[in-house]
Amino acid sequence: MSANEFDHPFVATTYDTVEGSREDLDLYASIADEMGARSVLDIGCGTGALAVRLAAEGRAATGVDPAGEMLEVARGKPHAEKVRWIHGTAVDAVPVAEAPEARGLPAELAVMTGNVAQVFTRDEDWLATLRAVHACLVPGGHLVFETRIPERCSWEDWAQQRESRWHAPGVGEVREVFEVSEVDLPLVSFRSDSHLPDGTVVPSTSTLIFRSVEEIIRTLAEAGFEFLETRDAPDRPGREWVVIARRA
Ligand SMILES: C[S@@+](CC[C@H](N)C(=O)[O-])C[C@H]1O[C@@H](n2cnc3c(N)ncnc32)[C@H](O)[C@@H]1O
Repeated sequence: MSANEFDHPFVATTYDTVEGSREDLDLYASIADEMGARSVLDIGCGTGALAVRLAAEGRAATGVDPAGEMLEVARGKPHAEKVRWIHGTAVDAVPVAEAPEARGLPAELAVMTGNVAQVFTRDEDWLATLRAVHACLVPGGHLVFETRIPERCSWEDWAQQRESRWHAPGVGEVREVFEVSEVDLPLVSFRSDSHLPDGTVVPSTSTLIFRSVEEIIRTLAEAGFEFLETRDAPDRPGREWVVIARRA
């Protein structure tokens, strides 16, 4: 399991402060309602904001993430004890022949929130993830994920926001210096350095992929999913697609 920029104590413990009140997750909770999903797999669950919310509603929730530091934060939240946490990727969540019916899996709904779908920059990793999710779903189960619309060129907005200051609880004022380091579509790379009050600098680099809707539909089909629709993200209108697919 390879480490990523989220597997850092500072990043993980300040993630929820940075992300704020998470209205973006309301849509996923309402889709779970709409589909009547009793079991949900959250791939790249991070600090578990959605998984604990769904578990508190009485759904069997499984959260999987390769960043142990993010899971550590998740495990400390109210209702965390109701969630099954898996330290790994979607591949690690696939039910195995020896224990085919782990609690909550196969699931009726799988989700990737917070643009997790954009971290899979290589087609082979994206397809391996989609195939693993397919194996984690009941026949007819749904996959819902968001991804930024390439034509909206979000990286041009990001390039304007070069420096910001914010308050990290227990740490103090953080100065964050951000730069878009490369745009080589469909890949966009960026770097941010968080300067802490004690002089420590926490660097973070990341590359995201901006797949076209045609690419998304093609790769979904290759992994055994039927593409159903894209919806607008109500809190980010016109900027992201919320993709809904069904295990064929
Ligand atoms: C922006 S955070 C989103 C976290 C959470 N879904 C949310 O909405 O708050 C991206 C997450 O993707 C996870 N991630 C990175 N690579 C991954 C992979 N190969 N499989 C699953 N999750 C991955 C990171 O560890 C991180 O927790």
